[in-house]
Amino acid sequence: MRAFQTLNSRTHFIDLITTKHPQFHKIYRGFHSTNHLFIEESSTVSTIYDPVSNRLVTTRVANSKPSEGESDKDAYRSSNSDYVDALKDDRSYGSVLKANQGFGVVSKKKSKSKSTWVCSECGYTDGQWWGYCRECRNVNTMKEFTESDNGGKTTGFQVSEKIVKSWLPKGSGDAVPMRLTDVNRGINQSDWRFHLSGLFGTEVSRVLGGGLVPGSLVLIGGDPGVGKSTLMLQIAAIIAEGKEIGKPAPVLYVSGEESVEQIGNRADRMEISAEELFLYSSTDIEDILQKAQVLSPRALIIDSIQTVHLMGVTGSAGGIYQIKECTAALLRFAKKTNIPVFLIGHVTKSGDIAGPRALEHIVDAVLYMEGEQYSSHRLLRAFKNRFGSTDELGVFEMSPCGLKAVTNPSEIFLSEERSDSEFLAGLAIAVIMDGSRTFVIEIQALCAPGSSLSRQVNGVQAGRADMIISVLMKQAGLKLQSNAIFLNVVSGLTLTETAGDLAVAAAICSSFLEFPIPNDVAFIGEVGLGGELRMVPKMEKRVSTVAKLGYKKCVVPKSAEKSLRGLDFGEIEILECINLKEVINAVFVTR
Ligand code: TYD
Ligand code: MG
Repeated sequence: MRAFQTLNSRTHFIDLITTKHPQFHKIYRGFHSTNHLFIEESSTVSTIYDPVSNRLVTTRVANSKPSEGESDKDAYRSSNSDYVDALKDDRSYGSVLKANQGFGVVSKKKSKSKSTWVCSECGYTDGQWWGYCRECRNVNTMKEFTESDNGGKTTGFQVSEKIVKSWLPKGSGDAVPMRLTDVNRGINQSDWRFHLSGLFGTEVSRVLGGGLVPGSLVLIGGDPGVGKSTLMLQIAAIIAEGKEIGKPAPVLYVSGEESVEQIGNRADRMEISAEELFLYSSTDIEDILQKAQVLSPRALIIDSIQTVHLMGVTGSAGGIYQIKECTAALLRFAKKTNIPVFLIGHVTKSGDIAGPRALEHIVDAVLYMEGEQYSSHRLLRAFKNRFGSTDELGVFEMSPCGLKAVTNPSEIFLSEERSDSEFLAGLAIAVIMDGSRTFVIEIQALCAPGSSLSRQVNGVQAGRADMIISVLMKQAGLKLQSNAIFLNVVSGLTLTETAGDLAVAAAICSSFLEFPIPNDVAFIGEVGLGGELRMVPKMEKRVSTVAKLGYKKCVVPKSAEKSLRGLDFGEIEILECINLKEVINAVFVTR
């Protein structure tokens, strides 16, 4: 919050100094008025690495010569002293560039076009063609792009630099190395982030790593139609209302895809009526940043990065150069002003050339929104986060009036007809982890008389299923040879963890023995080749989840005893088993 306040006070500071000190303007006018007088004769070239744009930028320091009509000596002295004064005044990286431009350093370079090869898989950019991508090693994925170097305003860096410079007071960009202890002194790290209020806000904050970080650039990716615009409109409204700090502030939502009326209509359906939420429809980044300057918003949202463009950059909106330069402009803007910027980007699971895949290394955080076509559940996953863990997962449900946080996400994958499992043989409950979240899922097995060759598995790796079946035959003595076995994970999920092995084995036993497993029993554990049960990570969290959901029994490996000892899981009975034989005796034997 401190950062937001600083920003506002900065904009006011500009007004203050320009009205109180009119000479402030004069200095600048004088500075620019000399532009046309000098033509570069000789120059010193220096290259600076800019960590924000992650590129080397070459600057040319002119040793200028006077033009006609002015004494050579005087003009030369005046140009150099003005130039040195200007640099003294503003030593930030961008100002060097600006000062050079301001003094009319005319490049003698003719305009020419430059080719770059960009990998369609990972977005890696190379200066020459290699036949394969030197980053991800894929063959035939390098596509050629030609960028016209016209020496004009062509980079996102320059555009945002120009706009931000005119906004912040002179000298505010000057930075000197600071001690870590000084940086953190007096700052409460939990106050530093902007917390989003409400159930929905808490779920989003969780994925962001505990709240929104000032000056961060966050990319929200996902398939078209998954609900990215809906999510961002809701986030924008929460930030604008600022209930957490009791103070509303403007938030600018810019759409290049929809008109303000269309967004207004959607907001109305979702019952959003935040007073300080501003909508704007534009595709020109320079225009957007200028409008943002006037508003000085608490957050800026761009929907979507594929629709915006930067004048002077080759290619149409959505092209790789446009996307990269626009993102560079927004990154610079976010870092300089401390305003968090959200970018929406469409991407298919494979990720295409002009998609946000190429941006993942530029932005601070990448969140992906996932959802199955016929399910109303939406998962928001942190794929990269410079300010938090990538283990975080937000679970939402798409309702007719927007996204709602799911109150009990552990159960979303359970089928509603679960009570049948009391009577149906072949159903078992597994507990899996996705990031930091625990989910309870149902595994189904069907053992029917027939050839063991007609085996079908959905959602379980075929090799893993074969191994479990063989272990059941060899180590637990089940005569599965003359059975066709079908396995299925309910809700179309794919089991990627070995923690589901025990439930797969239990489902097969249940179907083969025609012995229904009571629906309040859960299974957690990996199955080894000797039929032994093995520990899986985060055992306590998994057991605690099923205990909270009201399960009565949980079958776990004996080796989990140590990590579960002393913990209070309520009334749940924990059955510790050494191997599959013990599991069969504990679960499938009527006492
Ligand atoms: P949208 O946010 O436009 O998707 P994206 O920006 O990712 O392309 O959401 C599109 C889908 O969400 C659309 O199919 C309708 C559905 N939806 C709802 O179910 N409820 C709602 O309140 C809203 C706004 C959208
Ligand atoms: Mg959209």
